[in-house]
Amino acid sequence: MQKQTFKIVRRRLDDKEIAFLIKEIKQTPNITGFTVSEWDSFDGIFIAEIDNKLAGIIALKNTAGNWVSIEAFYVLSKYRNFGIGNKLFDAALKAAMKKKRNLYVITYNEAVVSIMRKNNLQVFDAFFKLPFFVMLANITHALNCYIVYEFIRKKIAFPADRKLTFGIKFFVE
Ligand SMILES: CC(C)(COP(=O)(O)OP(=O)(O)OC[C@H]1O[C@@H](n2cnc3c(N)ncnc32)[C@H](O)[C@@H]1OP(=O)(O)O)[C@@H](O)C(=O)NCCC(=O)NCCS
Repeated sequence: MQKQTFKIVRRRLDDKEIAFLIKEIKQTPNITGFTVSEWDSFDGIFIAEIDNKLAGIIALKNTAGNWVSIEAFYVLSKYRNFGIGNKLFDAALKAAMKKKRNLYVITYNEAVVSIMRKNNLQVFDAFFKLPFFVMLANITHALNCYIVYEFIRKKIAFPADRKLTFGIKFFVE
């Protein structure tokens, strides 16, 4: 793997970064997208910076029943496969452990599945196997005009057979 120097920082996003990420993610098949208010409402954001500029991000959202989800997980395409995603994921796992929350991930992306397996998450492909509160949080999340619009637009714009994979890791009973 080629070397790329980056640092992981925990901080909020500024308005310019939110606008940038919304634009970037519109061109990405495997994330439906987030509204400005969703970006503002995340409970923990870790950013990979290269030369003090955003190169990647992982965002956490607390949900009911002591769960936390990995919501946005994105590395700029030119910086992928340098290990940034692994480090961001590690920061998210540590934050969940520190907050004493169980963590879940829902993804279409095989690289994320690989990272989840490496970190010993329970990985499966059946929605109904998710814990009740996680199912509920996802149904609620999907009831959003922007999400529905982007979901349909991306189905048309990026036609492909994509399979959802779920990952969970328990830090508390
Ligand atoms: C998913 C993502 C954040 C990973 O970031 P990254 O910086 O490239 O991740 P890393 O370089 O740390 O590691 C990627 C790992 O996935 C593996 N990988 C890459 N493509 C893969 C594929 N198609 N299938 C399986 N594994 C793959 C790499 O070999 C690497 O494995 P390793 O951990 O054993 O080294 C990045 O690819 C991305 O932003 N993708 C587009 C947005 C997206 O779909 N996000 C997921 C939303 S849940």
